[in-house]
This record gives sequence, C-alpha cells and structure tokens, in this order.
Amino acid sequence: MTVKHFIDTNDFSKKELKDIANLSITLKKCIKAGYYPQLLKNKTLGMIFQQSSTRTRVSFETAMEQLGGHAQYLAPGQIQLGGHETIEDTSRVLSRLVDILMARVDRHKSVVDLANNSTIPVINAMSDYNHPTQEMGDLITMIEHLPAGKKLEDCKVVFVGDATQVCASLGFITTKMGMNFVHFGPKGYQLRENHIKILEENCKVSGGSFYITDNADEALKDADFVYTDVWYGLYDAELSEEERLAIFYPKYQVTMDLIKKAKPSVKFMHCLPASRGEEVTDEVIDSNFSVVFDEAENRLTAMRGLLVYFLGLNKPDAAKVEEVKAELEMVLAEVFKPEKELVGAI
Ligand code: CP
Repeated sequence: MTVKHFIDTNDFSKKELKDIANLSITLKKCIKAGYYPQLLKNKTLGMIFQQSSTRTRVSFETAMEQLGGHAQYLAPGQIQLGGHETIEDTSRVLSRLVDILMARVDRHKSVVDLANNSTIPVINAMSDYNHPTQEMGDLITMIEHLPAGKKLEDCKVVFVGDATQVCASLGFITTKMGMNFVHFGPKGYQLRENHIKILEENCKVSGGSFYITDNADEALKDADFVYTDVWYGLYDAELSEEERLAIFYPKYQVTMDLIKKAKPSVKFMHCLPASRGEEVTDEVIDSNFSVVFDEAENRLTAMRGLLVYFLGLNKPDAAKVEEVKAELEMVLAEVFKPEKELVGAI
C-alpha cells in the first residue's frame, strides 16, 4: 500500500485540502464543546526537530494528547539523525517504532528523504522551501475571518516583505484555493522562478491569480488579508540587522499607513514569531483587525485534522483481535502457571 505523506500542499487537490480544513474545523468545534474524540488512541507521533519551535511543537503534542495519542519530542542532538545514522536508516527504524512522523528540517531534501524511506506518513513541519502545516492553519484562519458575503475565491491576500518559505507557502495555498495572491517585496527578495511556475499551474487549475510587485498602492489596493513574516534574507546567508533594515525598512514594514491602503475590513496575519518594530509595528499587530493569535491557535486546529487524516480511522480487525487475545491468554497461563504445577511438570 502506498503511504501518503504531507510534504507539500501542491501534492494535493483543492478538494483534499478543503476536506482536511473541514475535518480540522469540526474537530475544533468538538473540543471547544468539551468532546474529545479519541481517534488517535494508542497512536504515537515522532517529532524530529532540527530547529527550535513554539507553535509547531506544542500544537502537534497537544493535538496528539487531546485525541488520545502520544507524542515523542526527538530534539537535535538526542537522536542519531545526521550524526551516527543516515536519514534513510533513521526513517526505516522510526517507521517500526512510531505510527506517524513530523520533521522540521534545515534542508527540504531531508524531509523528502525521510518520506521516501518511510513506511508511515511523514508531515513536513517546515523546511527552507515551504511550511505546509502553517498553510493549513492560515487557510482555516482565512475561512473563519472571511469578509461578510465573500467566498475564499473572492479574496485578495497580500504578503508584504521577504520571500520566505512562509511567503511561498501562502502563495501556494491561496492560488490552490482559487484566491488572488500578491507578493509585495523588493527586487532580489521576491518569489523566484521555481515558485512562479507552481503559482501559474495552480491558477490555471483553480482560476485564481497572482501578482508580484514593489509598488505599495497597486499591491495593497482592495486587500482582504495582509500578511507578513520576518526579514531573513536568503536562507543560506541570513541578513544582519543593518542589511535587513537597508533592504526592507521603511517601505516594507506593515504600518497603519500601509494598512490604510487596503480594504477597511482588512485582517492582518503573521505566522509568528514576530520581530516587532521590524516587519510590523506594535500598533498593527496589537490592533483589533489583527488575527495573529487566532492564527497561532489554528496551528493546533490544523494539526488535529492533519493527524487524523493521515493516520486514518483507528479500527482494529475484530476477528484478528479475538484470535490474538486467545493466544495471549494461553501464553499468560503458561508463563504464570502456579509454581506447584511447574515443579510437577519438571
Ligand atoms: N510559525 C511557526 O512555525 O512557529 P514556530 O517556529 O514557533 O513553530
């Protein structure tokens, strides 16, 4: 049987991603109502982290606990991966020890290699290329904050600043959903050819659109959602503070003046953590149109849906269970035979 992994949302159809979002939203309603469906009872998630994390780690672990499962944090330096053992062998071994894996990796190839050698589902918890679990949380947040009377397909989503993996991911999920995506960023820090090809393909299928510009008025006009992320620069050579400010400040900082160019009903989004005072001002991130903490909560919403979707329903084969139960009872009876009988037997 082929195992399904969650490495890139572009491997999935719009319908499949909407199914995951709907499942996530329904599970959120159940849990808010105090009903914790034990869909992941006895299941174990292995969590490989090559980098630090707050939202991703805590939301995966909480989701497993709430749905009856368990998560193991496999921190950098605590497992053999990358040191004594190859990714391929780590993947083969963990496939025998847990039920599902997630990995936050330095390089995208690592999570692809993990998946290619795994017999259990692997979820990409962020690489230098994309951040698909963030995409699902963001999709859910946009669904929950749709402007009155609008569908997803009617909305314009503007990413401001550096072409980080979160920027690429926002482009992927919005164009996949048939939305209108804009990247407003400086030349040299805009989405690249490899991203553009995917956005074009998504728009062809979904009817959405995308646009890349360094013109603020064009970009922000009629925006329903304005999103930003930290200013990293290229992944291989992170920018110093001085370099970051020279490239992005003040034009690409999300301020009240920039926000005023968008729709009056605009919502502000950020994947967090934020460098307050760099890519966004306190006034914007703390405003009543900022949905950044709903977005953080929806990381948990998305993880529940993703874990249930990829682990499937936990239904053992009843006939097989009866057979192994009978066998276990026989073995237990033999192992724990009263001593007297044992002596007699010898
Ligand atoms: N947005 C996000 O992935 O946050 P963490 O790095 O804290 O997991």
